[in-house]
Amino acid sequence: MTTIATVHGPKIRTALPGPNAKRVLEGDERFISPSYTRSYPLVARRGRGAIVEDVDGNEFLDFSAGIAVTSTGHCHPEVVAAIQKQAAELIHMSGTDFYYENMITLAERLTRVAPMKGPHKFYYGNSGTEAIEAALKLARYHTKRQWVIAFYGAFHGRTMGALSLTCSKAQQRRRFSPLVPGVVHVPYPNLYHRPEGVDAAEYARSCARYIEDVVFRTEVPPEECAAIFCEAFQGEGGYLPAPAEFMQELRSICDKHGILLVCDEVQSGMGRTGKWWAVEHTGVEPDMITVAKGIASGMPLSVLITKAHLMDWQPGSHASTFGGNPVCIAAALATMDVLEREAVKNSEAVGGYIMERIAEWPRVLPLVGDVRGRGLMIGVEIVTDKKAKTPGADERDRIVEKAFEKGILFLGAGPNTIRMSPPLIVTREQADIALDVLEQAIKDVAASRHHKSAGH
Ligand SMILES: Cc1ncc(COP(=O)(O)O)c(C=O)c1O
Repeated sequence: MTTIATVHGPKIRTALPGPNAKRVLEGDERFISPSYTRSYPLVARRGRGAIVEDVDGNEFLDFSAGIAVTSTGHCHPEVVAAIQKQAAELIHMSGTDFYYENMITLAERLTRVAPMKGPHKFYYGNSGTEAIEAALKLARYHTKRQWVIAFYGAFHGRTMGALSLTCSKAQQRRRFSPLVPGVVHVPYPNLYHRPEGVDAAEYARSCARYIEDVVFRTEVPPEECAAIFCEAFQGEGGYLPAPAEFMQELRSICDKHGILLVCDEVQSGMGRTGKWWAVEHTGVEPDMITVAKGIASGMPLSVLITKAHLMDWQPGSHASTFGGNPVCIAAALATMDVLEREAVKNSEAVGGYIMERIAEWPRVLPLVGDVRGRGLMIGVEIVTDKKAKTPGADERDRIVEKAFEKGILFLGAGPNTIRMSPPLIVTREQADIALDVLEQAIKDVAASRHHKSAGH
C-alpha cells in the first residue's frame, strides 16, 4: 500500500495508459459492452479520499467522483467500517417480502432533511433510473392521469420509462423507440444562451410558461397531466442551475392544475450543491424527489421520497428484490453522518472558493464562455467564439484529456461543458491543484488552436 491516505495531489509515474492499464483495456475491448462512454483510459485499482490510484501506481485527483457518487470520498473509513460490519451480519433480506429496521432508520434520517414538509414515505431501489421509474409509475397511479412533462437536456436514466423522460443526447435514444408514450419535452432555461437583451428572470419564467401557453393549449389537456419531472440543477445536460423564478413558476402551474412536481435530485442531491438538495436554492417545495448517486458513497442505493399521502399504491404495485439492501443502507447511514457533520458545509465552502477563483475566467481565459455552479456542482462552458457563443465540443474534450494526462479527473456535461463534481470532502488545497491544471489545459488547447489556424 502506498501512502495514498496522506497524498493530496496527483502523481503520474508512467505514460498513460501504463502497461497494466493497457492489458486491462485489451480485455475490456474483448469482453465488455461497447455501449459505455469512456472519456480517457483510467483503470482504477483503489481510492482514498479525493485520490484514485490506477493499476500502474499513478495517482489522480478525482474531480468527477464517479459521476458525483463518492460524496464522502473514496473508501471513507466510517463508510468502510459500516459496510464491513453489516456484511458480517446480514447481506440480504429483500424488503419486498420481509421487514428490516434500517429501512426505517434511514427514512427517519432523510425525513429530517427532505425539501418538502412531512410526513413522507420512502421507496427503495438500486439506481437513479429505478427511482425515476418508481416516480413515474407512482405519479400515474396516484393521479390516474397519463401525461408527463420533462425538459430538453434532461437526464433521468436509461431504462425504458426513465429513457422516455431523458432528452439529452439522441444516441441515448437511437433505435430504442417506441418509448413510453405520453411524454412531452419543453425547454429548460439556459441563462447563458438566452436571447440577447432578454431579462434573466423573465426568460426563466417564460420557459416554464411555455407549458401553460403552448403545451396545455395545443397538446396536453392539463387535467390529464400527472407530473412535471425536473432537475433543479440540470446535470448531464450541461450543468445548468435552475433559476428560482423558473422553479417557482413550475410550482404554481402544478398547484393550479393538480400536477405533481417531481425533482430529480439523483445528481444534485445529498449536499452536492452546498445544501442538501438543489431545489432548496429556489424556495420551492416539490411533491416527490428521487435520490441516488451520493447517498451511499458508491454502494448502489436509490430512494423515492414523497409526501406521504401520494404513496397510495396497493401491495404488488411496485417492488424490487434488492432495493434497500442492508449493506447499502449501512453505507448510507454512515454517509449521512459524514455529510451532516462536515461534508455539506465543506461543499458550500470549497464550492464557493472555486467559484470565486474562476469567476473571472470568461473575461480573462480563452475558450471559457461561462462558469456557473452551486456548491461542488460547477460547470465551465467552452466556446470557440465568445461573441457567438459557439460550442467548443472538441476543445472541451481535449481539455479534459489534457487534465487527465496531468492527473486530474474531470468529466464533460452537455456538448461543451466541463463538469466539476469532486467528493464533498475535497480541500481548498486540492481545488487549487485541480484549477491550476485546468487553467493550463485551457490555455494549451487555445494555443494549439491558434497555432493551427495560423497555418503551422
Ligand atoms: C439527474 C439524474 N437522474 C437519473 C440518473 C440515472 O441514474 P443511474 O445511472 O444510477 O440509473 C442520473 C445519472 O447520471 C442523473 O444524473
